[in-house]
Amino acid sequence: MSNELMQQKIEKAQRWIDCRKQVVKDGNMRQHYHFMAQAGWINDPNGLIYFKGKYHFFYQCNPYEGFWGSIYWGHAVSDDMLHWEYLPLALAPSEVYDEHPRGGCFSGSAIEHDGRLFLMYTAAANEGRGVEQTQCIAYSKDGIHFEKYHGNPVLTAPEGIEANQFRDPKVWKHEDTYYMVCGASRDGKGQALLYQSKDMLHWTFFNVLAESRGEWGYMWECPDLFELDGRQCLICCPQGVKPSGVDYWNVHQCTVMALDYDFDNHMGREIPPDAIAMVDRGFDFYAPQSFLDESGRRILIGWMGIPDADYTNPTTQAGWQHALTLPRVLHWKEGRLVQSPVPELQQMRCNERTYALGQLNLAGEEGIVFEGCFLFESCRHMCLTLRRGVTLTFEDGLLTLDMGTAGSGRTKRCARLEKLRELQVFSDTSSLEIFVNQGREVFTTRVYGLEGGIRLEG
Ligand code: FRU
Repeated sequence: MSNELMQQKIEKAQRWIDCRKQVVKDGNMRQHYHFMAQAGWINDPNGLIYFKGKYHFFYQCNPYEGFWGSIYWGHAVSDDMLHWEYLPLALAPSEVYDEHPRGGCFSGSAIEHDGRLFLMYTAAANEGRGVEQTQCIAYSKDGIHFEKYHGNPVLTAPEGIEANQFRDPKVWKHEDTYYMVCGASRDGKGQALLYQSKDMLHWTFFNVLAESRGEWGYMWECPDLFELDGRQCLICCPQGVKPSGVDYWNVHQCTVMALDYDFDNHMGREIPPDAIAMVDRGFDFYAPQSFLDESGRRILIGWMGIPDADYTNPTTQAGWQHALTLPRVLHWKEGRLVQSPVPELQQMRCNERTYALGQLNLAGEEGIVFEGCFLFESCRHMCLTLRRGVTLTFEDGLLTLDMGTAGSGRTKRCARLEKLRELQVFSDTSSLEIFVNQGREVFTTRVYGLEGGIRLEG
């Protein structure tokens, strides 16, 4: 019965999407090579997985309007992570535990178990002190049609954890045991909690993996723990971190922490402040999720948006909001996280042109949908205009992105660099992803100036 209701809600939402999708497609701010929802609102990528020969991509969405609301899981598949085919929505709010106007099927992850594709997600409903969040399971044989587990929820907030701050389970398997890390808040401080299970249905608390003592915020959203080039990394999104120098100017953060958690002895060490860094320096990057692809690369995809920001996205006029980042390959090098756009993206290159300094400005490149690679032999200062009014300048070791009048409220963001050696810029209709020094820093932002004009002055 319960799953019938979910099917009905999915079909109704699909009919709505079918009516709206052409308007979104025809919009002048629609992205050309970044993933977005067919219509409506999109936020976190969820359940990224390579399953039965295809990449599956789920995502938080509100199909009905360009704003956050009662949340569904959208679904798409791909052979190459570049071209995506939309599938029917995977999950719809339909149960007492996940149906609420400010709740629904919140973020989670996917794993293969017993030949089926399992989704573990946060159900948000049951208004009490806030909207209660519990962890739930849905599964599918074909990877397209999902059924919610009749024993849901499989986990409720443990004692001391605020019931409306317990979400975003990320599951993985080690030997014969499943593990899950989940974001939480205890006494107003962010935590990442570890659980374990033998069958994906019965979960027991394992330990606190890492926690804020206050300075790292009141809540950690979307934790993701993985091994990267021999380093244990936790990416998560702390809320409530204060700006410091050029760092942490967004309303909420996305950080990477180098951990040393000892799973055999249940021992975590205090995280020294220099083991924590920002994942991205732009205005619009949040709630990323990583997964291992077919060839064992660790790939990260983020939400090109952020909750509670005071800047806006004029795409709402065309009935949609937000997009996802390009897939990035992760590595750990020289004590830091390094992100590079997947090399498969090179297949999309066309009309390639090469310029020496000076020639570029004469050529008058006016496009706004492009990939630009800029190499510097020795650069003390430069100013790169990316499209009319949007600049990236390097001066006294400070790289500054200035959105000018094209930011819809976005202003400036900076990074300190020892040297500027390389910039790789992915400009889409309404977004910029700027990889600095082969991915040692990245700036991801939405942009709303549709006039081009690339220039480089140094
Ligand atoms: C992050 C987040 C998650 C939550 C989801 C709800 O953007 O707030 O913590 O599960 O979005 O859509």
